[in-house]
Amino acid sequence: MKPVRKVVIPVAGHGTRVLPATKSTPKELLPLVDRPLIDYVVNEAFEAGIEHVVLVTGRGKGAIDDYFDHAFELEAGLEAKNKTDILDSVRRVIPKAGAMSYTRQQAPLGLGHAIWCARDIIGDEPFAISLPDVVIDAGPGCLKQMVGEYEKSGGNIIAVEEVPREATNKYGVVAPKDAVNGPLFEMSGMVEKPAPEDAPSNLAITGRYILQPEIFGLLETTPRGAGGEIQLTDAMDALMKQQSFFAYVYDGVSHDCGDKLGWLKANIALGLKRPEFADALKSFIREQV
Ligand code: UTP
Repeated sequence: MKPVRKVVIPVAGHGTRVLPATKSTPKELLPLVDRPLIDYVVNEAFEAGIEHVVLVTGRGKGAIDDYFDHAFELEAGLEAKNKTDILDSVRRVIPKAGAMSYTRQQAPLGLGHAIWCARDIIGDEPFAISLPDVVIDAGPGCLKQMVGEYEKSGGNIIAVEEVPREATNKYGVVAPKDAVNGPLFEMSGMVEKPAPEDAPSNLAITGRYILQPEIFGLLETTPRGAGGEIQLTDAMDALMKQQSFFAYVYDGVSHDCGDKLGWLKANIALGLKRPEFADALKSFIREQV
């Protein structure tokens, strides 16, 4: 079984749900406490043993490339002022030379199309996908947990989490093949935003995937689906008919930072976890309510 060595992180969307914040700043660079969203997912991937990150970028997203590169004047200035801690924090994010590739999605035709744009860089091996606006607070990281499961199960795996039954109409929900009796189970299908009474489970798809390369051939022929976009879900549905497909209930908490309220909540949740901010932030919140 080939190992999972690469992750695709699509960053070419317009981030319309968080406009106007994303009018001239990529959504993936919105700050979460003191690091941009993309920093969290790239770190999570390297922690999982991933060797190569493929960013699918688009127009107006150049600042993301710069984030992962040296900023010589800034670094020289910090060095001259002996600000070693800050200097370390800006250098820490730069990956090993050659460990990051960029490909371009010329128009945001959907998540499925963005992933398809990475086909030549991925080649004929299993790979991970991480959506950068879903930040998962977990230790070990969600992708590391999934790679551990993949080494035992093979096939395709998508991360899921429990959501309240009455909220299934906001998510993609998985249908288990048999009774669920552990964190990893085989799936028989997925349903987009089902009404609670029609939902096959209360387990929602969460923005982390390990897929086999056959997905690319299926994406190639996937017609435009919901919203006129080429949907990854449609191609995964087709792949499920050919290969084993698992859902994995990861251990952790996700934050949807592609949504204004989700992003605000994530800043508070992760801010409260930082010892240097926790007490002051708690008192501030108490004063406000
Ligand atoms: P989203 O649907 O959350 O991002 O896709 P979006 O389209 O930017 O956001 P809204 O819905 O307009 O607010 C998840 C990830 O997939 C990327 C996005 O950049 C985001 O990181 N994506 C989405 C692409 O790269 N290309 C696309 O065509 C669509």
